[in-house]
Amino acid sequence: MPKGNPGDADTAPEDYGAMRLDVLATSADGDARYRIHTEVQRTMRDLRLKRNAIELGQLKTWSRRARSSRPEHFRVVKTLVRTGIRVLGLRSRGERNALSPVLKHCRFEFDALPEAFHGFRILHLSDLHVDGLPGLAECVADRLSDLVVDLCVLTGDYRFAVTGPCHNVYPNMQRLLAGVSAQQGIVGILGNHDMAEMVPAFERLGVRMLMNESLELRRGPDSVWLVGVDDPHHYGCDDLPGALLDVPEQAFKILLVHTPELIPEADQHGVRLYLCGHTHGGQICLPFFGPLLTHANCPRQYVRGAWQYNNVTGYTSAGVGCSGVTARFLCPPELILIELCCARRRESRQDSPSSSATRVVSATLPTRMR
Ligand SMILES: [Fe+2]
Repeated sequence: MPKGNPGDADTAPEDYGAMRLDVLATSADGDARYRIHTEVQRTMRDLRLKRNAIELGQLKTWSRRARSSRPEHFRVVKTLVRTGIRVLGLRSRGERNALSPVLKHCRFEFDALPEAFHGFRILHLSDLHVDGLPGLAECVADRLSDLVVDLCVLTGDYRFAVTGPCHNVYPNMQRLLAGVSAQQGIVGILGNHDMAEMVPAFERLGVRMLMNESLELRRGPDSVWLVGVDDPHHYGCDDLPGALLDVPEQAFKILLVHTPELIPEADQHGVRLYLCGHTHGGQICLPFFGPLLTHANCPRQYVRGAWQYNNVTGYTSAGVGCSGVTARFLCPPELILIELCCARRRESRQDSPSSSATRVVSATLPTRMR
């Protein structure tokens, strides 16, 4: 059951205060759950105000996951990379690479997955930056046209720029989403390039946006829960405890978050599958070295592809679009097809794992994330 409507206007402060007093009186009788619920509601409202203030340039500093970096440094790096690509005559090659998405198939096996979800297929698209490269939306829609999945998830960053108008995003998203066939719909979250105005606009396009909210997916007698949080990297508006409020403790939880920067928190809250992007896998990689930049405040082993952190299985997408420069090298755009597998179901039917299965090995917990 989704909580609230992300497109709703905020509750007036005086109404909110009255509700809070009422609930404090209730809490004296020991209704702890209701008390927590109210605190979370207040947090959600505050986070929406925080996002609005950041979008309007009214905050100079705020708590967030990104390491502090000065925008002028990023502009210098971007100019250097652009110039280097032009000087080396690699511009058209880089753009061709950026318009050549690959479809990757991952198969994740879980002991805890409800049996009815054995074989459930999720299309994971991240970092579309769909207004940045002419022809990208049509190219992706064409690549997906023969694919039918159970669910499509979008893990943020729809706009190319980080500021300015969003109006070019919507027609491009409409063209791209025309290629998506997902039987249980499309669910999205916001990233660090996105603005709150996209939430109602995307919902009109048929995308259910989760802003620190959860959504139950049912299949026969079973269910799994999708949990979506706002961007932790730039906006710092994520509220994982609030998003989990209505989710039963033992539920199988799939978390959608823009960056791989909430992995320890997700583990603490019993998340089993963590889907994210943001890093673009570096977008421009060097032979024998890998990505030049990833812009993520987490260890390098979590910035691209499949990973395991304690009980959390995750995938960090290298993204579909481009950021900064419209070129990719040694890091193709990727469309991820994730198939969920119930270990109990496979054992009972004596299936053998698919040869295309992604084998996730246990990763050592890096000190920085403890
Ligand atoms: Fe991005």
